[in-house]
Amino acid sequence: MIDLHCHILPGIDDGPELLDESIEMCRIAVNDGISKVVCTPHHVTGKYNNNREKIIRCVDKLQASIDSEDIPLTLYPGCEIRLDDLDLVENIKAGELLTMNDSGRHIILELPNESLPRNIEKIISSLVFAGIIPIVAHPEKNHVIQKDPEIIYQLVRLGALAQLTSSSLTGRLGSRIKKFSVFLLEHNLVHMLVTDAHASRQRRPVLSEGLKRLKEIIGKKAAMGMVETVPEKILNGEDIDMEFPIPLEKKSIWKINSFISKVLRKHPVNALTR
Ligand SMILES: [Fe+2]
Repeated sequence: MIDLHCHILPGIDDGPELLDESIEMCRIAVNDGISKVVCTPHHVTGKYNNNREKIIRCVDKLQASIDSEDIPLTLYPGCEIRLDDLDLVENIKAGELLTMNDSGRHIILELPNESLPRNIEKIISSLVFAGIIPIVAHPEKNHVIQKDPEIIYQLVRLGALAQLTSSSLTGRLGSRIKKFSVFLLEHNLVHMLVTDAHASRQRRPVLSEGLKRLKEIIGKKAAMGMVETVPEKILNGEDIDMEFPIPLEKKSIWKINSFISKVLRKHPVNALTR
């Protein structure tokens, strides 16, 4: 498997502080069946200033360390770029911001969890128009998208891809995010499964648990595509043959389900049927 989203480089964002923990994370990934990892530290202007050159240098250094420990894992450079007022296209073209595996083709965009920029569609369109495919990180965790999934439907229609975090699907982040993850999968609105790992104890680089659930939902072949074929194409800077997103006629069902869950939380079934 290939993990396209992992905070595994030591000391440059909110991932591991020390090299020892990075190496331990590499061991965990290998034991889980992961053979390639794209190292994607945050880039947030004024908070985590991780430009292209710095990330590539750090990846080379960590690769040398794990090679010396005979850990069979190949690392690639990437970045999780926070959506803010950056001139994204200009900074990518200037070589300041790093694309996935430095191919110039795909970038990971981090959305804030609580909000969404008003001009999000314009940002996505300008990237696509410039030949850069934005990959929206964890749309299932964004509160605005949870309330109105039509937003992610429109972004995918504009040419964006989206990542689903493995722990969202396994329920580690709560039942609401888990159910919404399934809803996004059923509508072809997420295209790859990633760990978004940050550490060796919690938020670990493990894909197999989410993959197991993924196979039950979309079948083995499609599930393997989300951890093998699609990530490989992104590493190579190739286009993805993705399923067309399914219009959200189920939107109302999602809202009804959410309403029912809320009611059931307040009034458990045995209380209602008594
Ligand atoms: Fe991340």
